[in-house]
Amino acid sequence: MGWLELSFTILTFASLARARRICPFGTQEHVTNYSERQCCIAVFCDPGFESRLCENIGDEALCVPCPEGKYMSTSHWSRDMRLCQIKRACDDGQSVFDERGTTEDRVCQCDLDKGFYNKSVGDPCIRKRCEAGMELTSDGRCKPCRSGYFKPEANYEPCLKKKDCDHKYASHGNATHDVVCKEKASCQLLSEK
Ligand SMILES: *[C@@H]1O[C@H](CO)[C@@H](O)[C@H](O)[C@H]1NC(C)=O
Ligand SMILES: *[C@@H]1O[C@H](CO)[C@@H](O)[C@H](O)[C@H]1NC(C)=O
Ligand SMILES: *[C@@H]1O[C@H](CO)[C@@H](O)[C@H](O)[C@H]1NC(C)=O
Repeated sequence: MGWLELSFTILTFASLARARRICPFGTQEHVTNYSERQCCIAVFCDPGFESRLCENIGDEALCVPCPEGKYMSTSHWSRDMRLCQIKRACDDGQSVFDERGTTEDRVCQCDLDKGFYNKSVGDPCIRKRCEAGMELTSDGRCKPCRSGYFKPEANYEPCLKKKDCDHKYASHGNATHDVVCKEKASCQLLSEK
């Protein structure tokens, strides 16, 4: 036997061995990464789903929704046996801006309420303290508390909402001091009875 003939024989043998796995008509071989094999009727999985072997009625493969914290952005045939991917973890100083369901990865943002901002996309989050009566903006400036809000000391936090005195104010406060409510006069309480 010549070298060419020999290698041809080996190749034929190898493909015959693989052909022993031929699936019944109408089904296709589904192979998991753990080398589990099954002949299933292939199904088309939408984004947000991952594929399982033939666990459905009548040997049909199955599409199951991504588990909590995972996503699948594309549609695919069940024989690709694709699994949903783990969503990114938001870094320190970041919070979830948009969870985006099971079809897209989550979007993180610098956590303004904890004093973090960023200069441009992909930049790390920077922490900045603002003086009493001021709070951080998303572009990294310190701006005075809005009307109805105050902040008594310098820190990384946003301004706080002022108390509601139901129209009975002793003092309306300012950017650093909360309002002071008027105490209900006791004679007023008596006359109400
Ligand atoms: C197998 O691995 C590939 C590549 O790492 C991955 O895309 C696929 O989702 C995995 N599928 C299974 C069933 O583990
Ligand atoms: C960084 O800033 C840009 C705007 O300049 C914003 O679109 C992006 O989402 C920010 N990234 C984070 C992680 O906050
Ligand atoms: C805010 O109000 C407090 C208490 O009434 C006062 O001591 C303080 O000077 C005021 N600050 C400003 C900037 O007006």
